Amino acid sequence: MQNSKNKKIAVFTSGGDAPGMNPAIRAVTRSCIEKKHEVLGFLNGYHGIIKNESLNMNLRSVANIIHRGGTMLKTSRCDEFEKPEGRQKAYDVLKSHDVSCLIGLGGDGTFRGLKTFHEEHQDIQVIGLPCTIDNDYEFSENTIGYFTAQQTAVEAIDKIRDTASSHHRTFVVEVMGRHSPNLAYEVAIGAGAESVVDLSKKGSLDKAVMKVKKSLEKGKLSSLIVALESEKDGSVSSAQCVQEKIAKELKIDCKSVVLGHIQRGGSPLSLDRVLASKMGFEASKHIGQRSGVIVVEHGDVVFRSFDELNEAPNLNKDHSEILEVLSN
Ligand code: F6P
Repeated sequence: MQNSKNKKIAVFTSGGDAPGMNPAIRAVTRSCIEKKHEVLGFLNGYHGIIKNESLNMNLRSVANIIHRGGTMLKTSRCDEFEKPEGRQKAYDVLKSHDVSCLIGLGGDGTFRGLKTFHEEHQDIQVIGLPCTIDNDYEFSENTIGYFTAQQTAVEAIDKIRDTASSHHRTFVVEVMGRHSPNLAYEVAIGAGAESVVDLSKKGSLDKAVMKVKKSLEKGKLSSLIVALESEKDGSVSSAQCVQEKIAKELKIDCKSVVLGHIQRGGSPLSLDRVLASKMGFEASKHIGQRSGVIVVEHGDVVFRSFDELNEAPNLNKDHSEILEVLSN
Protein backbone atom coordinates (compact mmCIF):
# COMPACT_ATOMS: atom_id res chain seq x y z
CA MET A 1 0.00 0.00 0.00
CA GLN A 2 1.22 3.54 -0.74
CA ASN A 3 1.68 6.03 2.05
CA SER A 4 0.49 9.60 1.51
CA LYS A 5 3.84 10.58 0.04
CA ASN A 6 4.69 7.71 -2.27
CA LYS A 7 2.10 7.37 -4.99
CA LYS A 8 1.56 5.14 -7.96
CA ILE A 9 1.62 7.26 -11.12
CA ALA A 10 0.41 6.09 -14.52
CA VAL A 11 1.64 7.78 -17.70
CA PHE A 12 0.34 7.24 -21.23
CA THR A 13 0.34 8.86 -24.67
CA SER A 14 -2.80 9.23 -26.75
CA GLY A 15 -4.11 10.56 -30.06
CA GLY A 16 -1.74 11.56 -32.86
CA ASP A 17 1.93 11.08 -32.00
CA ALA A 18 3.95 14.27 -31.68
CA PRO A 19 7.73 14.73 -31.72
CA GLY A 20 8.58 15.35 -28.07
CA MET A 21 6.33 12.73 -26.52
CA ASN A 22 9.39 10.63 -25.67
CA PRO A 23 11.22 13.41 -23.83
CA ALA A 24 7.95 14.12 -22.00
CA ILE A 25 7.63 10.46 -20.90
CA ARG A 26 11.27 10.58 -19.80
CA ALA A 27 10.74 13.77 -17.80
CA VAL A 28 7.58 12.52 -16.09
CA THR A 29 9.18 9.17 -15.24
CA ARG A 30 12.47 10.50 -13.88
CA SER A 31 10.93 13.44 -11.99
CA CYS A 32 8.33 11.21 -10.34
CA ILE A 33 10.88 8.56 -9.41
CA GLU A 34 13.05 11.29 -7.90
CA LYS A 35 10.08 12.11 -5.66
CA LYS A 36 9.90 8.42 -4.63
CA HIS A 37 6.73 7.67 -6.60
CA GLU A 38 6.30 4.48 -8.59
CA VAL A 39 5.64 4.89 -12.31
CA LEU A 40 3.61 2.64 -14.55
CA GLY A 41 3.49 3.21 -18.32
CA PHE A 42 0.28 2.27 -20.12
CA LEU A 43 0.64 1.27 -23.77
CA ASN A 44 -1.49 2.29 -26.77
CA GLY A 45 -3.38 5.24 -25.27
CA TYR A 46 -6.72 4.92 -23.49
CA HIS A 47 -7.18 1.61 -25.27
CA GLY A 48 -4.22 0.13 -23.37
CA ILE A 49 -5.59 1.32 -20.03
CA ILE A 50 -8.92 -0.36 -20.74
CA LYS A 51 -7.10 -3.53 -21.84
CA ASN A 52 -4.64 -3.36 -18.92
CA GLU A 53 -1.49 -3.19 -21.06
CA SER A 54 1.20 -1.72 -18.85
CA LEU A 55 4.87 -1.82 -18.02
CA ASN A 56 6.80 -0.79 -14.92
CA MET A 57 8.98 2.21 -15.62
CA ASN A 58 12.35 2.83 -14.04
CA LEU A 59 15.14 5.32 -14.63
CA ARG A 60 16.65 3.13 -17.34
CA SER A 61 13.36 2.42 -19.20
CA VAL A 62 13.49 5.95 -20.55
CA ALA A 63 17.19 5.99 -21.47
CA ASN A 64 18.11 6.92 -25.05
CA ILE A 65 14.68 8.15 -26.05
CA ILE A 66 15.09 11.93 -25.72
CA HIS A 67 16.01 12.29 -29.40
CA ARG A 68 13.47 9.85 -30.83
CA GLY A 69 10.25 10.79 -32.63
CA GLY A 70 7.01 8.90 -32.03
CA THR A 71 6.24 7.50 -28.60
CA MET A 72 7.84 4.53 -26.83
CA LEU A 73 4.46 3.93 -25.12
CA LYS A 74 2.67 3.80 -28.50
CA THR A 75 -0.64 5.57 -29.05
CA SER A 76 -4.13 5.22 -30.48
CA ARG A 77 -7.44 6.99 -30.90
CA CYS A 78 -9.97 5.24 -28.66
CA ASP A 79 -13.73 5.46 -29.19
CA GLU A 80 -14.43 3.19 -26.22
CA PHE A 81 -13.11 5.77 -23.74
CA GLU A 82 -15.70 8.24 -25.02
CA LYS A 83 -18.39 6.07 -23.43
CA PRO A 84 -19.02 5.86 -19.64
CA GLU A 85 -18.61 2.05 -19.73
CA GLY A 86 -15.16 2.40 -21.31
CA ARG A 87 -14.09 4.95 -18.72
CA GLN A 88 -15.42 2.70 -15.94
CA LYS A 89 -13.28 -0.18 -17.26
CA ALA A 90 -10.24 2.12 -17.32
CA TYR A 91 -11.01 3.22 -13.76
CA ASP A 92 -11.24 -0.38 -12.56
CA VAL A 93 -7.89 -1.20 -14.18
CA LEU A 94 -6.21 1.86 -12.65
CA LYS A 95 -7.66 1.05 -9.22
CA SER A 96 -6.45 -2.56 -9.52
CA HIS A 97 -2.92 -1.12 -9.86
CA ASP A 98 -3.52 1.30 -6.99
CA VAL A 99 -2.88 4.25 -9.34
CA SER A 100 -3.62 7.60 -7.70
CA CYS A 101 -2.50 9.92 -10.49
CA LEU A 102 -2.94 9.52 -14.25
CA ILE A 103 -0.73 11.66 -16.48
CA GLY A 104 -1.92 11.89 -20.10
CA LEU A 105 0.15 13.23 -23.01
CA GLY A 106 -1.91 14.19 -26.05
CA GLY A 107 -4.12 16.70 -27.82
CA ASP A 108 -7.67 17.98 -27.44
CA GLY A 109 -9.34 14.54 -27.60
CA THR A 110 -7.03 13.24 -24.88
CA PHE A 111 -7.74 16.27 -22.73
CA ARG A 112 -11.52 15.97 -23.13
CA GLY A 113 -11.18 12.35 -22.02
CA LEU A 114 -9.09 13.29 -18.99
CA LYS A 115 -11.51 16.00 -17.89
CA THR A 116 -14.58 13.77 -18.20
CA PHE A 117 -12.78 10.95 -16.40
CA HIS A 118 -11.85 13.38 -13.61
CA GLU A 119 -15.49 14.54 -13.28
CA GLU A 120 -16.68 10.95 -12.94
CA HIS A 121 -13.85 9.54 -10.82
CA GLN A 122 -12.54 12.20 -8.49
CA ASP A 123 -10.42 9.81 -6.42
CA ILE A 124 -7.90 9.49 -9.25
CA GLN A 125 -6.01 12.71 -9.97
CA VAL A 126 -5.41 13.48 -13.65
CA ILE A 127 -2.79 15.76 -15.20
CA GLY A 128 -2.60 16.57 -18.92
CA LEU A 129 0.48 17.60 -20.90
CA PRO A 130 -0.44 19.14 -24.27
CA CYS A 131 1.40 17.17 -26.97
CA THR A 132 0.19 17.83 -30.50
CA ILE A 133 1.63 19.23 -33.71
CA ASP A 134 -1.57 21.26 -34.13
CA ASN A 135 -0.81 23.73 -31.30
CA ASP A 136 -4.54 24.05 -30.86
CA TYR A 137 -4.88 23.96 -27.07
CA GLU A 138 -6.24 27.42 -26.40
CA PHE A 139 -4.92 27.63 -22.84
CA SER A 140 -1.29 27.07 -23.78
CA GLU A 141 0.92 29.21 -25.98
CA ASN A 142 2.69 26.09 -27.18
CA THR A 143 2.18 22.38 -27.33
CA ILE A 144 4.91 19.75 -27.41
CA GLY A 145 5.66 18.73 -31.01
CA TYR A 146 4.58 21.94 -32.68
CA PHE A 147 8.04 23.45 -33.17
CA THR A 148 9.38 20.29 -34.81
CA ALA A 149 6.40 19.87 -37.12
CA GLN A 150 6.66 23.51 -38.13
CA GLN A 151 10.37 23.13 -38.92
CA THR A 152 9.71 19.94 -40.92
CA ALA A 153 7.04 21.67 -43.00
CA VAL A 154 9.14 24.80 -43.57
CA GLU A 155 12.12 22.70 -44.70
CA ALA A 156 9.87 20.78 -47.10
CA ILE A 157 8.51 24.02 -48.55
CA ASP A 158 12.07 25.39 -48.92
CA LYS A 159 12.76 22.43 -51.20
CA ILE A 160 9.56 22.98 -53.13
CA ARG A 161 10.52 26.65 -53.52
CA ASP A 162 13.60 25.61 -55.52
CA THR A 163 11.39 23.94 -58.12
CA ALA A 164 8.76 26.68 -57.97
CA SER A 165 11.37 29.30 -58.70
CA SER A 166 13.22 27.28 -61.36
CA HIS A 167 10.02 26.53 -63.29
CA HIS A 168 8.16 29.82 -62.64
CA ARG A 169 5.51 27.63 -61.12
CA THR A 170 2.98 28.10 -58.33
CA PHE A 171 2.71 25.41 -55.67
CA VAL A 172 -0.05 24.74 -53.19
CA VAL A 173 1.27 22.86 -50.15
CA GLU A 174 -1.13 21.21 -47.74
CA VAL A 175 -0.27 21.36 -44.06
CA MET A 176 -1.89 19.45 -41.17
CA GLY A 177 -3.63 21.09 -38.22
CA ARG A 178 -7.07 19.45 -38.15
CA HIS A 179 -9.44 22.40 -37.49
CA SER A 180 -6.74 24.79 -36.35
CA PRO A 181 -4.96 27.17 -38.75
CA ASN A 182 -2.10 27.84 -36.28
CA LEU A 183 0.41 25.46 -37.86
CA ALA A 184 -0.55 26.53 -41.38
CA TYR A 185 -0.07 30.25 -40.62
CA GLU A 186 3.26 29.93 -38.87
CA VAL A 187 4.54 27.55 -41.55
CA ALA A 188 3.46 30.08 -44.19
CA ILE A 189 5.26 32.90 -42.36
CA GLY A 190 8.41 30.80 -41.86
CA ALA A 191 8.46 29.58 -45.45
CA GLY A 192 7.68 33.00 -46.93
CA ALA A 193 4.46 31.82 -48.56
CA GLU A 194 1.90 34.16 -50.12
CA SER A 195 -1.19 33.11 -48.22
CA VAL A 196 -3.06 30.43 -46.33
CA VAL A 197 -6.25 28.91 -47.64
CA ASP A 198 -8.72 27.51 -45.14
CA LEU A 199 -11.54 25.99 -47.18
CA SER A 200 -13.83 26.02 -44.15
CA LYS A 201 -13.72 29.85 -44.24
CA LYS A 202 -15.95 31.55 -46.79
CA GLY A 203 -13.97 33.63 -49.27
CA SER A 204 -10.58 32.19 -48.30
CA LEU A 205 -10.07 30.43 -51.64
CA ASP A 206 -11.03 33.48 -53.73
CA LYS A 207 -8.73 35.65 -51.63
CA ALA A 208 -5.79 33.33 -52.34
CA VAL A 209 -6.52 33.35 -56.09
CA MET A 210 -6.54 37.17 -56.01
CA LYS A 211 -3.27 37.17 -54.09
CA VAL A 212 -1.55 35.01 -56.72
CA LYS A 213 -3.02 37.20 -59.47
CA LYS A 214 -1.66 40.35 -57.83
CA SER A 215 1.73 38.70 -57.31
CA LEU A 216 1.90 37.89 -61.00
CA GLU A 217 1.02 41.49 -61.82
CA LYS A 218 3.79 42.67 -59.49
CA GLY A 219 6.25 40.55 -61.45
CA LYS A 220 6.57 37.59 -59.11
CA LEU A 221 7.22 34.54 -61.23
CA SER A 222 6.23 31.88 -58.73
CA SER A 223 4.06 31.68 -55.63
CA LEU A 224 3.74 29.37 -52.66
CA ILE A 225 0.33 28.90 -51.10
CA VAL A 226 -0.28 26.94 -47.90
CA ALA A 227 -3.57 25.06 -47.70
CA LEU A 228 -4.94 23.88 -44.38
CA GLU A 229 -6.09 20.28 -44.54
CA SER A 230 -9.86 19.97 -44.59
CA GLU A 231 -12.47 17.31 -44.16
CA LYS A 232 -14.79 18.88 -46.73
CA ASP A 233 -14.39 16.27 -49.39
CA GLY A 234 -12.52 13.07 -48.58
CA SER A 235 -11.62 12.28 -52.19
CA VAL A 236 -9.90 15.55 -53.09
CA SER A 237 -7.23 17.08 -50.87
CA SER A 238 -7.56 20.77 -50.05
CA ALA A 239 -4.26 21.34 -51.86
CA GLN A 240 -5.69 19.80 -55.02
CA CYS A 241 -8.89 21.77 -54.72
CA VAL A 242 -6.95 25.05 -54.41
CA GLN A 243 -4.53 24.10 -57.18
CA GLU A 244 -7.36 23.33 -59.61
CA LYS A 245 -9.04 26.65 -58.92
CA ILE A 246 -5.81 28.67 -59.38
CA ALA A 247 -4.86 26.81 -62.57
CA LYS A 248 -8.34 27.26 -64.01
CA GLU A 249 -8.87 30.91 -63.09
CA LEU A 250 -5.37 32.23 -63.79
CA LYS A 251 -4.34 29.75 -66.47
CA ILE A 252 -0.92 29.21 -64.95
CA ASP A 253 1.29 26.22 -64.20
CA CYS A 254 0.27 25.17 -60.67
CA LYS A 255 0.93 21.95 -58.73
CA SER A 256 -0.15 20.62 -55.35
CA VAL A 257 1.74 18.73 -52.64
CA VAL A 258 0.30 17.15 -49.48
CA LEU A 259 2.94 17.01 -46.73
CA GLY A 260 0.87 14.59 -44.64
CA HIS A 261 2.34 12.55 -41.83
CA ILE A 262 5.97 13.51 -42.44
CA GLN A 263 5.01 16.50 -40.26
CA ARG A 264 4.47 14.20 -37.29
CA GLY A 265 7.70 12.23 -37.52
CA GLY A 266 11.37 12.80 -36.91
CA SER A 267 13.67 13.66 -34.08
CA PRO A 268 12.21 16.41 -31.86
CA LEU A 269 13.89 19.81 -32.06
CA SER A 270 15.62 20.96 -28.90
CA LEU A 271 12.77 23.46 -28.38
CA ASP A 272 10.29 20.58 -28.10
CA ARG A 273 12.64 18.49 -25.95
CA VAL A 274 13.14 21.33 -23.52
CA LEU A 275 9.42 22.17 -23.39
CA ALA A 276 8.59 18.47 -22.84
CA SER A 277 11.22 18.24 -20.09
CA LYS A 278 9.93 21.36 -18.31
CA MET A 279 6.31 20.21 -18.56
CA GLY A 280 7.07 16.69 -17.28
CA PHE A 281 9.10 18.12 -14.40
CA GLU A 282 6.32 20.60 -13.53
CA ALA A 283 3.72 17.81 -13.53
CA SER A 284 5.70 15.88 -10.90
CA LYS A 285 5.45 18.87 -8.52
CA HIS A 286 1.66 18.63 -8.47
CA ILE A 287 1.20 14.95 -7.68
CA GLY A 288 -1.27 14.47 -4.84
CA GLN A 289 -2.89 17.87 -5.44
CA ARG A 290 -5.62 19.06 -7.82
CA SER A 291 -6.37 17.72 -11.30
CA GLY A 292 -5.48 19.93 -14.25
CA VAL A 293 -3.06 20.63 -17.05
CA ILE A 294 0.44 21.94 -17.62
CA VAL A 295 0.47 24.94 -19.95
CA VAL A 296 2.73 27.69 -21.27
CA GLU A 297 1.48 31.10 -20.15
CA HIS A 298 3.47 34.21 -21.08
CA GLY A 299 6.49 31.97 -21.67
CA ASP A 300 6.29 30.19 -18.30
CA VAL A 301 5.46 26.51 -17.83
CA VAL A 302 2.77 26.38 -15.14
CA PHE A 303 0.08 24.10 -13.72
CA ARG A 304 -3.58 25.13 -14.05
CA SER A 305 -6.41 23.25 -12.39
CA PHE A 306 -9.48 22.54 -14.51
CA ASP A 307 -11.40 25.08 -12.40
CA GLU A 308 -8.85 27.79 -13.12
CA LEU A 309 -9.20 27.16 -16.86
CA ASN A 310 -12.82 28.36 -16.69
CA GLU A 311 -11.44 31.85 -16.12
CA ALA A 312 -8.32 31.55 -18.31
CA PRO A 313 -7.93 33.63 -21.47
CA ASN A 314 -7.72 32.05 -24.91
CA LEU A 315 -4.05 32.27 -25.86
CA ASN A 316 -4.47 31.52 -29.56
CA LYS A 317 -3.11 34.28 -31.76
CA ASP A 318 -4.19 35.42 -35.20
CA HIS A 319 -1.18 35.61 -37.53
CA SER A 320 -3.00 36.51 -40.73
CA GLU A 321 -1.98 40.19 -40.69
CA ILE A 322 1.75 39.42 -40.41
CA LEU A 323 1.51 37.03 -43.34
CA GLU A 324 -0.46 39.55 -45.38
CA VAL A 325 2.11 42.30 -44.89
CA LEU A 326 5.27 40.22 -45.24
CA SER A 327 4.20 38.43 -48.38
CA ASN A 328 3.90 41.62 -50.41
O1 F6P B 1 -3.78 15.98 -34.34
C1 F6P B 1 -2.65 15.71 -35.10
C2 F6P B 1 -3.02 15.39 -36.53
O2 F6P B 1 -1.84 15.14 -37.25
C3 F6P B 1 -3.87 16.44 -37.23
O3 F6P B 1 -3.12 17.53 -37.70
C4 F6P B 1 -4.50 15.61 -38.32
O4 F6P B 1 -5.73 16.16 -38.73
C5 F6P B 1 -4.72 14.29 -37.66
O5 F6P B 1 -3.83 14.23 -36.56
C6 F6P B 1 -4.50 13.10 -38.55
O6 F6P B 1 -4.81 11.97 -37.83
P1 F6P B 1 -4.43 10.48 -38.25
O7 F6P B 1 -2.99 10.26 -37.95
O8 F6P B 1 -5.29 9.63 -37.43
O9 F6P B 1 -4.63 10.39 -39.73
